[in-house]
Amino acid sequence: MDGPLQPEKGAADAPFYLPQGDEIPVFTAAHENDLPVLLKGPTGCGKTRFVTHMAARLDRPLHTVACHDDLSAADLIGRYLLKGGETVWVDGPLTRAVREGAICYLDEVVEARKDVTVVLHPLTDDRRILPIDRTGEEIEAAPGFMLVASYNPGYQNILKTLKPSTRQRFISLEFTFPKPEHEIPVVARESGLSEERVKPLVRLANKLRDLKGQDLEEGVSTRLVVYAATLIRQGMPVERAIRVAMIEPLTDDADVKRGLLDLVTAVFG
Ligand SMILES: Nc1ncnc2c1ncn2[C@@H]1O[C@H](COP(=O)(O)OP(=O)(O)O)[C@@H](O)[C@H]1O
Ligand SMILES: [Mg+2]
Repeated sequence: MDGPLQPEKGAADAPFYLPQGDEIPVFTAAHENDLPVLLKGPTGCGKTRFVTHMAARLDRPLHTVACHDDLSAADLIGRYLLKGGETVWVDGPLTRAVREGAICYLDEVVEARKDVTVVLHPLTDDRRILPIDRTGEEIEAAPGFMLVASYNPGYQNILKTLKPSTRQRFISLEFTFPKPEHEIPVVARESGLSEERVKPLVRLANKLRDLKGQDLEEGVSTRLVVYAATLIRQGMPVERAIRVAMIEPLTDDADVKRGLLDLVTAVFG
């Protein structure tokens, strides 16, 4: 790093993030020491919000890439494009982050094609370089560059998991759905609904999460609870908001749905 970090610098205007534990100091220490970070956890539990918060706090630009099964190394690194009859090299988001000393966030990294992990290896050891075969360039990461990746260990099949040779290059932070004492203020703050009215939604969310593995593949995310609360704050009847934001997104199976609606009745009467 060039000069001492001032972790509090951007904290005031950083997007709201309520920490669950020591993830802020761990991420800060990783950044100060040029270590890459892997965030593990279910969808909608705050991983992306945490990264945007930390980028602002550490005063670093952020390049986010939503990985999908067609994403290749060239999408990250860059490619030659035809522009006005001329071929010009255009940096991809990873290359831009490496040059700028930015944070590059690869969301759902296991979804990407296999050649992507190969590119990450020389960036995640102490060489911190990005070789670009197409141009013959070898770029050394600028100070402040940090690689952050996320994945959801819950619903991956065996073919889509991180190889030990890749995962053992990252500091790893485990994310779970926030405890009620955290989730209630988070949902209230995000939706504008009072904590009193958010409480039963969070209670319901945790009952739904208990069904994970039995009837449901994934428990209801904090994101969905925020959606339900937002609709209620806007005036939608509670039952309807819960149905469209917290029940329908979870399952297409009519029997399972009936079971979930019974839980709603148990919580709301
Ligand atoms: N600890 C938290 N602090 C603030 N907001 C949170 C927190 N956890 C979850 N959220 C809310 O949940 C939403 C979904 O989180 P997100 O970061 O997009 O999930 P993920 O990236 O894990 O899928 C956010 O937009 C935010 O409203
Ligand atoms: Mg995300």
